[in-house]
Amino acid sequence: MSQIENVLHESRRFQPTAEFQARARINNEITYQRMYRQSLEDPEGFWGRIARELPWTAQWTKVLDWSKAPFAKWFVGGQINASAACLDRHLATPVANKVALLWEGEPGDTRQVTYSELADEVGRLANGLRSLGVKKGDRVAIYMPMLIESVVAMLACARIGAAHSVVFGGFSAQALRERIQDGGCTAVITADGGFRRGQIQALKPAVDEALLGLKEVHSVVVVKRGGNPVGWKEGRDHWYHELTKQSSSNCVPEAMDSEDVLFLLYTSGSTGKPKGIVHTTGGYLVGTYLTFQHVFDIRPEDIYWCTADIGWITGHSYVVYGPLQNGATVFLYEGAPNTPHLGRLWEMVQKHKLTILYTAPTAIRTFMRWGDEHPGRFDLSSLRLLGTVGEPINPEAWMWYHRVIGRERCPIVDTWWQTETGAIMITPLPGLTATKPGSCTRPFFGVDAAVVDEKGQELATNQGGFLVLKRPWPSMLRGIWNDPERYVQTYWGKFGHMYLAGDGSRRDEDGYFWVMGRIDDVLNVSGHRLSTMEVESALVSHPKVVEAAVVARPDELTGQAICAFVTVRSGEKVGPQLKVDLGEHVAREIGKLARPAEIRFTEALPKTRSGKIMRRLLRDIAAGVETVGDTSTIEDYSVLAKLRADEE
Ligand code: PRX
Repeated sequence: MSQIENVLHESRRFQPTAEFQARARINNEITYQRMYRQSLEDPEGFWGRIARELPWTAQWTKVLDWSKAPFAKWFVGGQINASAACLDRHLATPVANKVALLWEGEPGDTRQVTYSELADEVGRLANGLRSLGVKKGDRVAIYMPMLIESVVAMLACARIGAAHSVVFGGFSAQALRERIQDGGCTAVITADGGFRRGQIQALKPAVDEALLGLKEVHSVVVVKRGGNPVGWKEGRDHWYHELTKQSSSNCVPEAMDSEDVLFLLYTSGSTGKPKGIVHTTGGYLVGTYLTFQHVFDIRPEDIYWCTADIGWITGHSYVVYGPLQNGATVFLYEGAPNTPHLGRLWEMVQKHKLTILYTAPTAIRTFMRWGDEHPGRFDLSSLRLLGTVGEPINPEAWMWYHRVIGRERCPIVDTWWQTETGAIMITPLPGLTATKPGSCTRPFFGVDAAVVDEKGQELATNQGGFLVLKRPWPSMLRGIWNDPERYVQTYWGKFGHMYLAGDGSRRDEDGYFWVMGRIDDVLNVSGHRLSTMEVESALVSHPKVVEAAVVARPDELTGQAICAFVTVRSGEKVGPQLKVDLGEHVAREIGKLARPAEIRFTEALPKTRSGKIMRRLLRDIAAGVETVGDTSTIEDYSVLAKLRADEE
């Protein structure tokens, strides 16, 4: 709730410049209001009109079937292939010869492909995958650095009707294995390794480890990038360049039903088990197509950069499917932002004359800390629009982004959405909306968002409560893989007819939303979702640990940082070495991003009489603030006193 107060005093407003506004698709309130009203009053008419701009191969009979809510069907009976929507649709137009992907490797090597070249490469890999026995309805795991081939891999799966399940390359072998097993993947696309901070980050060894004893995976396709030596399993492993060289580029896209699965993407919930969020084809394409067009007000000459890795939803929707459907030129970067120097990003903006930059608040805060002199050394005048996503942005970071990167000319779109929503839900429209630092402003077309109390009653202006979406939308998740119950429970269990986003929010006097962060046991570290349970399970799997509780504490740089309270087996020695070991252990189990920023050893954890760990108290201790509110259910007060004493 402290965040509510924080931003309540924010009264600065920023209008788009007259020049930006003049050229924008939607640049007046009347048009916006009319379209927004239509989208809510006649959603089927609205979405049907948009969907007709996409290359369907069979017409749908009904826009929305919500009769089995909360399981939605959009564009019922329609057929469309996602790779054809991103590629083939442009091939008979001038876009065919436009650059689709412009890539820079960390060492500075560059490569670009036009839409027609990308279509050829996708066709070759698609045929290659088919030759390995991958077919419609299968699942394929993708575990890659940021390469052109990573996008090719996603689109090749889509082309032959196999669902992709991209696992972020920073995840450990163990985390990859769990996701491969849960998704029932039968093939993996990976790379030997990629460049990260001047070193090769090897990926293939993690795949080998993840696949130990997993007979279901018959094929592994390996892109050669790092040049690092890799183990090889004959019959299973295939070099990407050899596989694609042998294949024809001509691959007829599989006819996909609008509701066929396009991809699974695992994300964290409040239990230890990651959720495989299911997205299907038609509605997802329509949602990403329209949001990309309007939120970035994309123009033919734009060179657009979204810094997200394809391992996250932002990489799916706004590196691949949204931009490519719109025929945009997308910039990709392989490596770290501080290699070989702290101005690397800005150097690339200048070098490639990038026009749009979409990144995360945690990155912005990092750049802020590195100092103004780094962006100051480069010409950023090509930039015309900035975006943020992934977590609430504090007004100070917003102002820095506006001043130092946007040079007070570029609108900032602070976009609120989730893995589950598939596409941007609450956002400014850059040529119209007056922005306020820290607010994601107003709902996008077709989005009926509200802030409600415990009972589902809409709250008055500026009161904090649950952020909900009151109706289905085309790009919504269709469920959790293999767990329909959990889908209903998690998102629809609380209010029944409204989607529970799991975020706290308030809405101000202008109807602007101010998202305050998660209300469940989900951490948001550097814009990445992790569940407290997952990190706890990893800690407890260490032989010396008996119990662990993980909470988030505010962190200037990463938004939230992980603070772990750990109880060890009696007789075990606690100390700095064990902290290091436990950190390493978590990094191995889940990935480096889950490594706790702080570990505190304790003889016991504060619990209620029913045995529930009192996280609220731990959060206060981690944040170094006084505990307010009810502690009457605590079982043993001495635990709390000890924890507090340790702090000093
Ligand atoms: O808490 C919200 C935060 O990120 C969560 C979704 O995380 P994920 O599924 O990993 O997707 C991130 C990229 C879409 C949300 O529930 N979040 C995302 N965008 C914003 C945000 N919080 C505040 N402002 C945002 N713009």
